[in-house]
Amino acid sequence: MKIAILPGDGIGPEIVDQAIKVLNALDEKFEMESAPVGGAGYEAHGHPLPEGTLKLAKEADAVLFGAVGDWKYDTLDRPLRPEQAILGLRKNLQLFANLRPAILYPELAGASTLKPEVVSGLDILIIRELTGDIYFGQPRGVRAAPDGPFQGAREGFDTMRYSEPEIRRIAHVAFQTARKRGKRLTSVDKANVLETFQFWKDIVTDVHKEYQDVALEHMYVDNAAMQLVRAPKKFDVIVTGNMFGDILSDAAAMLTGSIGMLPSASLDANNKGLYEPSHGSAPDIAGKGVANPLATILSAAMMLRYSLNRAEQADRIENAVKKVLASGLRTPDIHEEGTQRVGTTEMGDAVVRALAS
Ligand code: NAI
Ligand code: MG
Repeated sequence: MKIAILPGDGIGPEIVDQAIKVLNALDEKFEMESAPVGGAGYEAHGHPLPEGTLKLAKEADAVLFGAVGDWKYDTLDRPLRPEQAILGLRKNLQLFANLRPAILYPELAGASTLKPEVVSGLDILIIRELTGDIYFGQPRGVRAAPDGPFQGAREGFDTMRYSEPEIRRIAHVAFQTARKRGKRLTSVDKANVLETFQFWKDIVTDVHKEYQDVALEHMYVDNAAMQLVRAPKKFDVIVTGNMFGDILSDAAAMLTGSIGMLPSASLDANNKGLYEPSHGSAPDIAGKGVANPLATILSAAMMLRYSLNRAEQADRIENAVKKVLASGLRTPDIHEEGTQRVGTTEMGDAVVRALAS
């Protein structure tokens, strides 16, 4: 098993170092190879996604990605900006399924904006389709309105599209993932007003025939948004399109407190994937040794679970993180009175120690 390690820039290298330490502390050793990406790719090879980096990501069994986007690269032309690297990787590796868990650790209940009884024990997973929908649909643009009450006036327009294969493949990922968890899947759509999402609903219903052990429910996106803040624990796995998923996953993320705690996975059709924290390169704290490495460490756990078929090792890492939080150690982003403030490296070391105990 080979893991491509792409630390990136900003806090990327600091937090990825902690995840590597944790992976190296497991009984089974994995082959790891690093390559520069984002700002680091630009510094080394004049491009955010150097050829060698893309080649490594393609041939590896999984990719562990830190973050990119330090402000010092803001003045570069758009194709040379660090963020182009992540878009290029998604496109080249066909990463169409974005998995974002929202888990509230009991010790961090105070960090959520919702009442403890509403969120305590929260453990849901949002699966967002990442390569289709209105974000990519053609035609789009600004034109003279061809009809309607404002005919001839300037109008902006986009096109919402989903093909059957696109819906089928994300539905399969969703059912297979739900099968590994609580066996409940909610497909979120807007079938009452959108043709695209009536089609989505029909296809998901059809794919469900192959997964009769998973309970499927359909929900309109407006209701889903309401339920996410009213009774989020009612959900197990949610699958939805690119735009609805973008919005719902950010809302769900905030239920859990700090962005420094949130891992993510982006998978292809064969469960090969890219794993990264949900946050960015945090240039405001880069190099200060205070970044929370837990989102990256938990991303490594997701990598073991989804791409490397090592669910037991993933459980071990997740349990070690719980132990460390229970022991009261906190990086500044999750620090509260009565807990012990630690830095990035100390947090990584604590997870390694908890793995051994
Ligand atoms: P950000 O997530 O980097 O930072 C937002 C806030 O959260 C900052 O105050 C930061 O200090 C804090 N934060 C983030 N991660 C943290 C951690 N692990 N521990 C403690 N605090 C943490 O988002 P922002 O500021 O909007 O973007 C900064 C740069 O990152 C931009 O250039 C953006 O394009 C890029 N970005 C890259 C992503 C990626 O690599 N996939 C994703 C999102 C943004
Ligand atoms: Mg978003």
